[in-house]
Amino acid sequence: TGDMSALMVIFGGTGDLTNRKLIPALYNLIYDHRLPKHFAVAAVGRRDMDHEQYRKVIFEQLKKYSRNEIDQRLWEKLSCLIYYFQLNFTEKTGYERLNTFLSKLDDTYQTHGNRLFYLAVAPEFFETIVMNLHNNKMAVETNDSWKRLVIEKPFGKDLKTARLLNEKLREVFREDDIYRIDHYLGKEMIQNIMVLRFCNLVFESLWSNKYIDNIQISLAEKHGIGSRAGYYEQSGAMRDMVQNHLLQIVSLIAMEAPINLTSDAIKTEKLKVLNSIETFSSESLKNNVIFGQYGRGVIDGYPVPGYREEASVKDNSNTETFIAMKFHINNFRWAGTPFYVRTGKRMGVNAAEIVIQFKSMPDVLYFSNDAEQEPNLLVIKIQPNVGVFFQFNTKDFHMENEVISTKMDTSHTSGEQGNTPEAYEKLILDVIKGDSTLFSSWDEVEASWTIADRIIEYGRQKRLKLPNYDAGSMGPVLSFELLARDCRKWWNI
Ligand code: BG6
Repeated sequence: TGDMSALMVIFGGTGDLTNRKLIPALYNLIYDHRLPKHFAVAAVGRRDMDHEQYRKVIFEQLKKYSRNEIDQRLWEKLSCLIYYFQLNFTEKTGYERLNTFLSKLDDTYQTHGNRLFYLAVAPEFFETIVMNLHNNKMAVETNDSWKRLVIEKPFGKDLKTARLLNEKLREVFREDDIYRIDHYLGKEMIQNIMVLRFCNLVFESLWSNKYIDNIQISLAEKHGIGSRAGYYEQSGAMRDMVQNHLLQIVSLIAMEAPINLTSDAIKTEKLKVLNSIETFSSESLKNNVIFGQYGRGVIDGYPVPGYREEASVKDNSNTETFIAMKFHINNFRWAGTPFYVRTGKRMGVNAAEIVIQFKSMPDVLYFSNDAEQEPNLLVIKIQPNVGVFFQFNTKDFHMENEVISTKMDTSHTSGEQGNTPEAYEKLILDVIKGDSTLFSSWDEVEASWTIADRIIEYGRQKRLKLPNYDAGSMGPVLSFELLARDCRKWWNI
């Protein structure tokens, strides 16, 4: 730690993630003068290209995906730090050549032997790459240099495979040097959850089953699966969004205050939440978990195909593109307050938000007649709107004893791309700093898979009638009944 020089080695240099997220993040870092002084990138890919060709390719993509305007001079400054290295990931001898190449870059850019190995590749290559790094002694730390591994999801496809993968990684890297990315943790409003809770008396003192009626988390997306069928068919919404992003959000919302702001202290508290989520009984699985898959529909005025009609999806596929669940966190703070969560593709809106619904006031005084009582709502808007919304009651001007609900909204639109710092900018810098707060520890991954596995297994056995929601809608009817049954509803703020 402390030493901000680094050589970033991206495996999957020609892939989608590199184009859409990593290179734009680096560009934005240089744009904001935040890129470390001693820094270079080796992008490793299977295609045959030279450095110049590679730089051209990523530049074209950068123009599409950067949140800042493209300044030619800055691009030149960045692009001459970026090199391409052709390697077939399974070809053992190639790693020796790669190592020699990295040492040369290391000398040129004075990166002090610090290496950030970024695995932006399909999961079947994770183990091969790490073992090859190991066999070529490329992952050995010295007293004054670090070697860190950044690994994208999916981290295994269930608890068993995640464990096997983790064991392999741990043969080569220390837990502290493994950065398991959950890019949601890099989003501004996700980091803001702890600040909102622990810096505001008015929220934290009410933050429990005593005052909160229920908590809702929705991660709704308009897009379908695009060209990712190969991945998504194996994954579905449960593995794609719930096991990672959604459960991470739940743990931040429900955690106790950590003893300090170190990564360890925070992770200790988050882990306790994951371990307190109810173990779904067969009864609760049946009643409280809703799977969905989109059929044809209309998004933004255009007809779109159903999931089973998407390229490379089987026409009888049972993969879920939507999931809604109700569960309890069985600890002292939360027992009795239900959590409702949902996520889906091809929904009617793009909206990621957390709704905290407070309990209602007694039905006396102002609410004694048939006047409907609007509850206090605190909404944490993650995207595309970013900020906080709060709903409370006031007197209707000029009307005697009439109450209306007032809305305070601090959120602003960030647009699809957003001009808030891209999650990846923050995350890359954190790895270089050696701060793993915004990454998932093995213990968290293990606890999340334990929860996810049970639900996935239930889904596998259940006979699903799919598709069961139209593209452009807000999910299957059953997901509305899940709340209606409890005399509640999803809030779409
Ligand atoms: C990824 C999922 O982890 O998150 C995608 O694999 C999903 O399916 C994406 O679309 C959503 O991320 P964001 O940042 O666009 O909300």
